[in-house]
Amino acid sequence: MSDKRVLLIVGGGIAAYKALELTRLLRKAGVGVRPILTKAGAEFVTPLSLSALAEDKVYSDLFSLTDEAEMGHIELSRSADLVVVAPATADLMAKAANGLAGDLASTTLLATDKPVLMAPAMNVRMWEHAATQRNLATLRADGVLFVGPDEGAMACGEYGPGRMAEPPAILAAIMAALAGGRPLAGRRAIVTAGPTAEPIDPVRLITNRSSGKQGYAIAQALAALGADVTLVSGPTALAAPAGVKRVDVETAREMLAACEAALPADIAVCVAAVADWRPETLNGSKIKKGAGGPPAIGLVENPDILATLSTAKARRPRLVVGFAAETDDVEAHAQAKLARKGCDWIVANDVSVEGTMGGDQNAVAIVSKGGIERWDRMAKGEVARRLAARIAEEFQ
Ligand code: CTP
Repeated sequence: MSDKRVLLIVGGGIAAYKALELTRLLRKAGVGVRPILTKAGAEFVTPLSLSALAEDKVYSDLFSLTDEAEMGHIELSRSADLVVVAPATADLMAKAANGLAGDLASTTLLATDKPVLMAPAMNVRMWEHAATQRNLATLRADGVLFVGPDEGAMACGEYGPGRMAEPPAILAAIMAALAGGRPLAGRRAIVTAGPTAEPIDPVRLITNRSSGKQGYAIAQALAALGADVTLVSGPTALAAPAGVKRVDVETAREMLAACEAALPADIAVCVAAVADWRPETLNGSKIKKGAGGPPAIGLVENPDILATLSTAKARRPRLVVGFAAETDDVEAHAQAKLARKGCDWIVANDVSVEGTMGGDQNAVAIVSKGGIERWDRMAKGEVARRLAARIAEEFQ
C-alpha cells in the first residue's frame, strides 16, 4: 500500500480536529497524504499541524501564484489515487453536488477523475434537511462513496446522525476504496456455519436449532470484500451465497476434515453450532423397539474445530475467530473461551436479551487479548459486514 496516496480535503467543522488523527493513521499505514485545507477548515486546525502530520505541503488557495506554479489545481486533483473529504461539511457537499468551483476544494472535486470518499459531519438538523439529503442522493448517484455519519451526542449539544465517523472507520473505508473495494482479495477464508447432525442410527440423529444465517452472512460479507471463501456448512435450509464455495457436511468430524482440507487459509471464522458430543457407537442398522425398554445412548466428545484450527501450528490461519453465545457474565465467559480455545477473537453475544435468539438484531462484543470492543445493537447482516470490515482492517 505504500505507493498509494490520498488527497485529503479538510472542511470547516469542529470535526476537522479528527482529520489530524486520520492523517496520522494514514501515514502510519504507509499512505501518502496531500492536504487541502479550506478557508473554513483553517479556522479549526492550523496548516502547520496538518502539514507536519502529512509530511507534505498544505494547499488552500486556488489563486495562489506559488501553488499554481508548483502544482496546478488540475494536476493536484489527479495527483492522488483517492480524494477524501473529511469533514465533508454541508457546504462542501452542496458545492460538489452542484458542480460549483469557486475555491480550491470545490474546483478539485469538479476536476478530479479519481474516486471520491466523503465523511460527512454536521449538525443533525443540517444533515436531515431536505437539501442535504438531496445533495447526498445526487453525490451517491455520481459515484461518490460515503463513510458515516455516526449517530450520537454532538459538539453542538444535540443528539442524532451527523457526527463524523471515527478516524479508524474512515481509515478502513479509505483502505477498502484504495483496494478497489476488495481489501481481502487474495486472502483465503474458512467459515463454519449451521448445526452439525450426529447419527444415532441410520435414521435418527442428534442436532440443534442453528439456522446458519449468521455464518452464511459472514461468508457472503467476506466474499464481498474479495476473500476466497470456503463455507463449511452443516445441514441448513439456506442457499450458498454467490461467489462462495460451499462444502456440505453433517457431523463434527466431517466438518473438521473439510476445514483441514481447506487449509492453508488466512482467516477462519467458526460460527457453527457444533454438537459437543456424538453417540458413542454408530449402530449399523436401525435400533428396534425391543422388549428391553429405551436404549441408553452413550456420548463421546466431538473434536473442537475452533481449538484445532487455533493450534494448527504452521497451518494455523493468521486470524482465527470464534463465537460465543452466552446468557450470563458474557464478557468473562468469552475471555475464558478465548484463552481455552487459543483463538484471536471471540465474538460474544448475550442471548438472554429478548429478540436476539431467532431475531434479526444482535449486540455483540469483540473480545481479544487487546481488550473488548462493544458494538451497538444492529441487524445481523450488519454485524456480518462490520465483522468482515474489521477483519479486513487486520490485514492492512
Ligand atoms: N466450536 C467448534 N467446535 C466444537 C465446539 C465449538 O468449533 N466442537 C466453536 C463454535 O463454532 C464457536 C465456539 O467454538 O465459535 C464456541 O462454541 P461454544 O459452544 O460456545 O463453546 P463450548 O466450548 O462448547 O463452551 P460452552 O458450551 O461450555 O459454553
